[in-house]
Amino acid sequence: MSPEDKKRIAAEAAIDYVKPDTVIGVGTGSTVNHFIDLLAARMGEQVRAAVSSSEASSERLRGHGIKVVDLNEVGRLDLYVDGADEANSRLHLIKGGGGALTREKIVATASREFVCIADDSKLVETLGKFPLPVEVIPMARELVAYALRDLGGTPRLRDGTITDNGNHILDVHDLEITDAPLLETQINQITGVVCNGLFAHRPADVLILGTDDGVVRHSVASQSS
Ligand code: 5RP
Repeated sequence: MSPEDKKRIAAEAAIDYVKPDTVIGVGTGSTVNHFIDLLAARMGEQVRAAVSSSEASSERLRGHGIKVVDLNEVGRLDLYVDGADEANSRLHLIKGGGGALTREKIVATASREFVCIADDSKLVETLGKFPLPVEVIPMARELVAYALRDLGGTPRLRDGTITDNGNHILDVHDLEITDAPLLETQINQITGVVCNGLFAHRPADVLILGTDDGVVRHSVASQSS
């Protein structure tokens, strides 16, 4: 099965978590694009509205006639569906490959259940092979880069990228992340950091992976089913 087909079947499985007449949190990326398309096709007008984590997803949702509302209008959400760049068995994630990490973390934190969808190449033993995205205030870019080197990483500016929030992204290479909650906290303490792409304090609740044998669900309690 192609990686794209694996993403699609994972997205399809996430539709089962959507309850009619609710507001859904929607992430960003190619896997989520499948989810948005399937959501519109399968549930259509049964979706009351969505809170989106990026301009790109908002545009796609509106293109399907799904209303997009501000998180402040709804406060809390029952469900957030998003992809990931890497996931470990504790459902700690690296996210932000698409640059939407800050809004993604906000919507994930506001949601009671976070269903992460991905193809099986995203499951890793140790996080860090995928460079960790860190969103920074532009004037603090070099200051933050020094501090990230002190933490053992090699930060590289993502060229030509300005986030939806008007900031820059440093992609941090050469990290072998053995304690994701600790590193997430340490990076958040650096002045000038807006957000980092580690989702360990708010991990996924369910990870749905598309594999050659169909979908495999992981949760921290059950590990896999
Ligand atoms: C965007 C993200 C995405 O969820 C992540 O990059 C995975 O993307 P894709 O589904 O295209 O593999 O974090 O900021």
